[in-house]
Amino acid sequence: MEDVISYALEDNIAVVAIDSPPVNALGLAVRRGLVDAIAKAENDGAKAVLIYAEGRTFPAGADIREFGKPPQEPILPDVCARIEASDVLVVAALHGTALGGGLEVALGADYRIAAPGTRVGMPEVLIGLLPGAGGTQRLPRLIGVEKAIDVITSGRQVGAAEALDMGIIDRIDNESPREAGLAYTRDLLAQDAPRRPISAMPAPTPVDFDAAYDAALKKARGQISPSYAVRGIQAACELEFAEGMARERALFRELMETDQRAALIHAFFGERAVSSLPELKGVTPRPVASVGIIGGGTMGAGIATAALLSGLEVVLLEMTEDAADAAKGRIVKSILGAVKRGKIDQARFDHLTGTALKLSTDYDALAKVDLVIEAVFEDMGVKKQVFAKLDAVCKPGAVLATNTSYLDVNEIAAATSRPGDVIGLHFFSPAYVMKLLEVVVAERTATDVVATGFALGKKLGKVSVRAGVCDGFIGNRILLAYRTAADHMVLEGASPFQIDRVMLDFGFAMGPFQVGDLAGLDIGWATRKRLAPTRDPRERVPTYADKLCEQGHLGQKTGRGYYIYGDGAAKENPEVLTLIDAERDALGITPREFSDDEILRRYMCAMVNEGARVVGEGIARRPLDVDMVFLTGYGFPRYRGGPMKWADMQGLKRILDDINTFAEADSYFWQPAPLLTELVAQGKTFDDLNKET
Ligand code: 3HC
Ligand code: NAI
Repeated sequence: MEDVISYALEDNIAVVAIDSPPVNALGLAVRRGLVDAIAKAENDGAKAVLIYAEGRTFPAGADIREFGKPPQEPILPDVCARIEASDVLVVAALHGTALGGGLEVALGADYRIAAPGTRVGMPEVLIGLLPGAGGTQRLPRLIGVEKAIDVITSGRQVGAAEALDMGIIDRIDNESPREAGLAYTRDLLAQDAPRRPISAMPAPTPVDFDAAYDAALKKARGQISPSYAVRGIQAACELEFAEGMARERALFRELMETDQRAALIHAFFGERAVSSLPELKGVTPRPVASVGIIGGGTMGAGIATAALLSGLEVVLLEMTEDAADAAKGRIVKSILGAVKRGKIDQARFDHLTGTALKLSTDYDALAKVDLVIEAVFEDMGVKKQVFAKLDAVCKPGAVLATNTSYLDVNEIAAATSRPGDVIGLHFFSPAYVMKLLEVVVAERTATDVVATGFALGKKLGKVSVRAGVCDGFIGNRILLAYRTAADHMVLEGASPFQIDRVMLDFGFAMGPFQVGDLAGLDIGWATRKRLAPTRDPRERVPTYADKLCEQGHLGQKTGRGYYIYGDGAAKENPEVLTLIDAERDALGITPREFSDDEILRRYMCAMVNEGARVVGEGIARRPLDVDMVFLTGYGFPRYRGGPMKWADMQGLKRILDDINTFAEADSYFWQPAPLLTELVAQGKTFDDLNKET
């Protein structure tokens, strides 16, 4: 027997325990062990088999690390079939997260029992696949097509109570999986309960599968796995079980070969790899129970909301009583949203907006907090004053963080007598929704302060990415580059609306000009003004957007920017085109046509090139850090894996060739990043660098 499986006979019940930390994934050894255990139980004349798992969870799925390698037998569908075909009664006792292949193993059993906190689901579509061990065939037979489509195409985790209601599990029990499973198995044996192979259940009633397919395709905005899953479920209705399984296998294999699958698995592991940094191994973060926040505007209030919802106490400092009241109003409104969505109850709301939250206009209120996040105006003078005051009042060892978007964290740290305690914690708006946190490490930031930034990110449920100090850190610096490429295209003849459409079609949540309107056009305006004194004369910077700002049109917040906002969908603002025409006339530019393909290539090349520069300079540790910034903070389509993964899949040579072609007309902007040139020369990919570190 494999050492990841233990086997014991107890009162004629073969007790089979899976023990393969951390999540009991169904790797080769577990699969072999399960098949052997069933055979042994049969040989031993056991009356029933109980399958459960040690540790934190019933198997959370197939072993994703095996994907992309040749499958080794027994493959999971055969394991599930072997369990189901046994003439011995099989019971699965679930706990933790019984997901994907884990749930499929459980569906091979005759009966299922679960601990109250168990979550079951089939998240395969989220990694670009579909359930490939009978999930698309057995689940609809068990719970009906509509519910199976919901569970499988969403990939969502279903709680134990709902799973019981749906019929995915048969009983909930508080005892340990082993004890609960044994008691249930004894009950079933006492009742002489029949075997209940799902494959023998009648084919489920079909629905309008073409409509379900279209709906899944539309909802996934370009990601194909959910719509493939619909076709798999359709096969359960239309084909004999064995043929349905063959169809599922064919669809699974097809998806396994796609770039989308590779990209989504890159995203899965990338999100976990970003916070695993060698220098933080064994470093204890400073304890953080209370957080001070300076400034309760858009960001301060959002960060306060995120902190409160994660169980931290918050002291928020504003300039005046009125501003503090306004900040409280913003926080209460967003926490009320959590009540409305059923995330928290009224008592929790009262606590979070009552005792857990203090507002003040006096710095002394921050004397005891463990960590402070400054979110005042983006102005170096103001920030330095704030940090000097924090230095005077905060207790020794308190972490002093700035949420600045662009400014030099070294300079901010130098305004204190304790630069080792100073760090950048760059949140994204709305801070209680957006997953990204850039942990900006300044020259003198202490390692345990960095560890504290990552620990805070984890507590807040963020994907934390280490960034070095430069103008805009990882994300905003790269954003500036591709926004500039977009601005150049506009000057030369493309319209902002065409560019937005192309990027939406690519899968971005929003186009760059829509993002500008959402964030406020004054942000870009301020950046242009800030960079003007040091700007190279060869740099081309359009001024039409400044004119919009001068007229008071700052985007969504003023009702007008590139688009006009009112009731219903936003409309294109025709005045923008007039301003652009005027600027082209003034510059003597004759506008030319841009194909959608050229727009995409220029936009993406600018993003990838700056990404390569950011990695080359050590601002981002690895290409995957850039990818995770874009997936979690900039609406980059997850199924494309991030800009660097996307570039690898295009071929870096092609990207470099494009950049060199674009450079023929503008050699200042289109300078290939040294790292990109180097990788192409060596025939390497960005992913090779991910593996090296
Ligand atoms: N295969 C391999 N490794 C896995 C894994 C899997 N299915 N699921 C999790 N892991 C690893 C993680 O990479 C991580 O490793 P690390 O410590 O080295 O970084 C470790 O297990 C712990 O995972 P998390 O940090 O994510 O722990 P959480 O407690 O936050 O989350 C979880 C646990 C909800 C199970 C989450 O890991 C998860 O969602 N896992 C993926 C589930 C999934 O997609 N299952 C379907 C797989 S595909 C399949 O089953 C195909 C089949 O139909 C044929
Ligand atoms: P905001 O203008 O909405 O809020 C700033 C708040 O700070 C105001 O409420 C103001 O009263 C208060 N304030 C100013 N000086 C203060 C002081 N000395 N003491 C106490 N309170 C003071 O600005 P926003 O958008 O919240 O930005 C804050 C910071 O966060 C900036 O550094 C910005 O660059 C950064 N940021 C902004 C993002 C965004 O999307 N808005 C995203 C990420 C970072």
